[in-house]
Amino acid sequence: MSTIAADPHPTPLPQAAEGASTSLPLPSGLRDAALAAPTPLVQAHDLAKTFDVSVPWLNRVLERRPRQLLQAVDGVSFTIEKGQTLALVGESGCGKSTVARLLVGLYHPTRGGFTFDGQDAHAAFRTSEGRKLRRRIQMIFQDPYASLNPRWKVADIVGEPLKEHGLITDAAELKDRVGELLKSVGLSPLDMVKYPHQFSGGQRQRISIARALATQPEFLVCDEPTSALDVSVQAQVLNIMKDLQRQHGLTYLFISHNLAVVRHVSDQVGVMYLGRLVEVAGKHQLFAQPRHPYTRMLLDAIPKMHDTGRARTPVQGEVPNPLNPPGGCAFNPRCPHANERCRVERPVLLELQGVRVACHAVEEGRI
Ligand SMILES: Nc1ncnc2c1ncn2[C@@H]1O[C@H](COP(=O)(O)OP(=O)(O)OP(=O)(O)O)[C@@H](O)[C@H]1O
Ligand code: SF4
Ligand SMILES: [Mg+2]
Repeated sequence: MSTIAADPHPTPLPQAAEGASTSLPLPSGLRDAALAAPTPLVQAHDLAKTFDVSVPWLNRVLERRPRQLLQAVDGVSFTIEKGQTLALVGESGCGKSTVARLLVGLYHPTRGGFTFDGQDAHAAFRTSEGRKLRRRIQMIFQDPYASLNPRWKVADIVGEPLKEHGLITDAAELKDRVGELLKSVGLSPLDMVKYPHQFSGGQRQRISIARALATQPEFLVCDEPTSALDVSVQAQVLNIMKDLQRQHGLTYLFISHNLAVVRHVSDQVGVMYLGRLVEVAGKHQLFAQPRHPYTRMLLDAIPKMHDTGRARTPVQGEVPNPLNPPGGCAFNPRCPHANERCRVERPVLLELQGVRVACHAVEEGRI
């Protein structure tokens, strides 16, 4: 479990540049926009995932307990242009990993879906087309210790997707390709005979990245890829990821609880709260002028690099129980601007001056 950015000794990270036809039924507004604008590579529409967390049936009957459904993700919509990075931030349990798992087909959505390069991805995941799509969409996980098989040599770990997808069958060619992949992430081809335990955490994450790149994917879903690493190593891995993005035109969904990392890697930032997006904005806009009270609270909690005299304000309050979310705006028990409307009416994401925000106070001009 992670909480939002509270690294007391942030390392300055080099600044980054700013940056369909679909078979899913799109609302007419979105359809018109899609016709006018170039098709984004990834277009999530009303993604939702509910988990049944009820106790076993017999206990429910004997103890007269109702079925319990947990709405992990509820109506998340976003687009990512080719070659761009959308970062998802939010406190632990807000649904970031569930979105990631929906995007790589590990979960099927309860509602909504997403298109990849104009293709309904979840429909494709269920057919033979899914194999092709899985080659184009890869995931990097948080923990390189858990995600690499300790009994396999690096050559087998990195070469496995190539064999699995039947991309390379010749042994010599496979060895050459694994060597190239290792070089592309700053490792040596000689490392292919070693086992994961012979590497540091940062090197292991490089091996994970090399493996993810093996099938020449276009879209990488990165779930806290540097959170388990030391701060100095984080910067190296992030820089490799950015170089690879430039070289291969990769598109990223990047999940992190560390806003300094988000600032370094993202073009767009989506802020999630209890399964929903509450603000989506360009990186510079979001950091310079956060609109949603929750985004402001998160940013106020970051130690300021050039403003050492200013005390940071820790994130206030607790995330509500997702099994019993508050009515109206889910943020209302923690929000200093909440009023009666906030307690009864759930705000929807509205576009205001190029930023999408779900907040009555912003909409009414109260803040
Ligand atoms: N397989 C599952 N079964 C039941 N509940 C789940 C499952 N996966 C996630 N959840 C619940 O869904 C909610 C969202 O979880 P998720 O892992 O997506 O959050 P997160 O934002 O990635 O959190 P963290 O920052 O801790 O990784 C949480 O309340 C979690 O307990
Ligand atoms: S809708 Fe109301 S409670 Fe929710 S963030 Fe805006 S002001 Fe706060
Ligand atoms: Mg997670």
